[in-house]
Amino acid sequence: MYIPVILGTSRKGRQSEKVAKFMLQQASKAGLESELIDTRDFSSGVTDSTKTLPQSQKLSEKISKADGLIIVSPEYNHGYPGELKMMLDMVYEEYRRKPIGICGVSAGSLGGAQMVEQLRLVGIELQMVPIRETVYFSQVQNLFDEGGGIKDESYYGRIKKFLDELIWYAKALKKAREEE
Ligand SMILES: Cc1cc2nc3c(=O)[nH]c(=O)nc-3n(C[C@H](O)[C@H](O)[C@H](O)COP(=O)(O)O)c2cc1C
Repeated sequence: MYIPVILGTSRKGRQSEKVAKFMLQQASKAGLESELIDTRDFSSGVTDSTKTLPQSQKLSEKISKADGLIIVSPEYNHGYPGELKMMLDMVYEEYRRKPIGICGVSAGSLGGAQMVEQLRLVGIELQMVPIRETVYFSQVQNLFDEGGGIKDESYYGRIKKFLDELIWYAKALKKAREEE
């Protein structure tokens, strides 16, 4: 199963990078093939869905191969970052009938909950299956040690539930796509 982790912000000083790298580790430990897809590497400056850009072709290859997606994103003014939406909009068919799990990130206590709700709706329009399980990484600035380890062990249980659910859907939908 190949399920990459999308890092949804390109902001200088982004805290979400720690979460994305941590989720990548957890996905690998759960037996998934994964990699980081960083919005910084796919910037085009404007919305472009022509698939003529080199970065669109690269994204198309990765999303085509994917059995599902994990998106790690902060909440900016109650929404998702513009660069994440511009990157997602580069391709379309490639997302079809694949599950999407969203991890929210915030400096406050809500863990990006309002962003998660909005991004789920985008996932539906991309023909994806947004899963119910979510991991909210709140007070992210205090959550990780120097080595990138998480200080609050209670996250492990939530991450397991999240990945178990995502993998269930990824397997079920892969089988169904293959039978199409
Ligand atoms: C433009 C901007 C808007 C923000 N809006 C929100 C918000 O609506 N809700 C929230 O919980 N945090 C908000 N934050 C703070 C983020 O939670 C904080 O930056 C956190 O570290 C996660 O984002 P990062 O990956 O960019 O660091 C905002 C930050 C920026 C830069």
